[in-house]
Amino acid sequence: MKHLGKVMAIIIFMAVAATAVSAKFNKSQDAIRYRQAVMTLIGHHFGSMGQVVKGEQPYNQASFTEEAALLEMLSKMSWDAFLYPKSDSGKTKLKSKALEKQDDFMQAARKFENETAKLAADAKTGDLNVIKAQFGAAANTCKGCHSEFKSK
Ligand code: HEC
Repeated sequence: MKHLGKVMAIIIFMAVAATAVSAKFNKSQDAIRYRQAVMTLIGHHFGSMGQVVKGEQPYNQASFTEEAALLEMLSKMSWDAFLYPKSDSGKTKLKSKALEKQDDFMQAARKFENETAKLAADAKTGDLNVIKAQFGAAANTCKGCHSEFKSK
């Protein structure tokens, strides 16, 4: 019984962890607001890491590593929010193309996830040259998706 309780606890924990990354929405405006909020956070943290990479702010390994880990977490946000049906209309810059070509959109999303995961791993090395190169690779995945799927 004790063992079963432990297994149940793990299953419940996994279910909670899974819902945390896969948010559900009742209407498209909620999905739009959610994804814009996440992108705002991504923009904020990527921007502050960018200042370090450009030498505009001093490099601190611990805080840079923390921000890179946070970015990795944010990159795995619910992409469902972007692909919510008909969420290309309203107060949004999502191009209709994202909903029409969902596989292409998800490919851009996965590239971004992979490059930010690498950035988080590189941040732990404390080697600023390695970090700079990987920061550039991650930045290209932002630009790649924005130029395809986000209107100006
Ligand atoms: C897979 C696609 C994709 C990737 C990757 C991506 N974005 Fe976005 N981003 C979007 C889309 C689409 C919007 C517009 C969302 C909307 O208006 O509903 C957006 C919006 C934004 C916004 C504006 C948020 C607001 O206030 O509405 C910022 C800032 C932003 N992205 C920063 C970034 C940064 C920085 C990166 C990379 C570190 C990045 N994005 C990666 C698709 C992406």
